[in-house]
Amino acid sequence: MKFLFRKSPDAGESTPQWAKDFPINVEEDNYVARRDFTKFMVLTSFAFFAGQCWIGMQNVIRKKRGEPAMTAIADLKQVPVGTVLPFSYPGEHDPCLLIRRSETELVAYGQKCTHLSCAVTPQVEQLLCPCHEGCFDMTNGRPISGPPRRPLPLIELSVRGGTIYATGVQERTV
Ligand code: FES
Repeated sequence: MKFLFRKSPDAGESTPQWAKDFPINVEEDNYVARRDFTKFMVLTSFAFFAGQCWIGMQNVIRKKRGEPAMTAIADLKQVPVGTVLPFSYPGEHDPCLLIRRSETELVAYGQKCTHLSCAVTPQVEQLLCPCHEGCFDMTNGRPISGPPRRPLPLIELSVRGGTIYATGVQERTV
């Protein structure tokens, strides 16, 4: 067993008291560092593996659940050009925004920011997240700036007999 003693400038040749009280075992210290690194690598690998399993399970559950039911959102005339209508789809705890950009263009997105799920709010041509200043393009829901990397979920729409329906959700990754 080898010990490394650091000498204080005024210690002369004798070993200072603090070095006797707190000796450093260099070999043991290196061994612990290697062991800690290995432990870190194993735990990190396990965390990645668990994360992949969790994502896989979520996909299986989502597929088993099937497509969400078609749901009426509003009458077309209730959403004039330039307005935004909040609604929930597919469940009551899934807030979404319906945006009428022109006479013929309707888009809808999930309202939860893809960074940490704060609610995005419409601004001029953009959807802004107030939490960390994330910004999404209103035309396609893709991130423009800030921390979000994934687009907002796209709500599929259909207009039949003057009524706007939500018919599905596209969870997009790019
Ligand atoms: S939660 Fe939206 S940018 Fe962080």
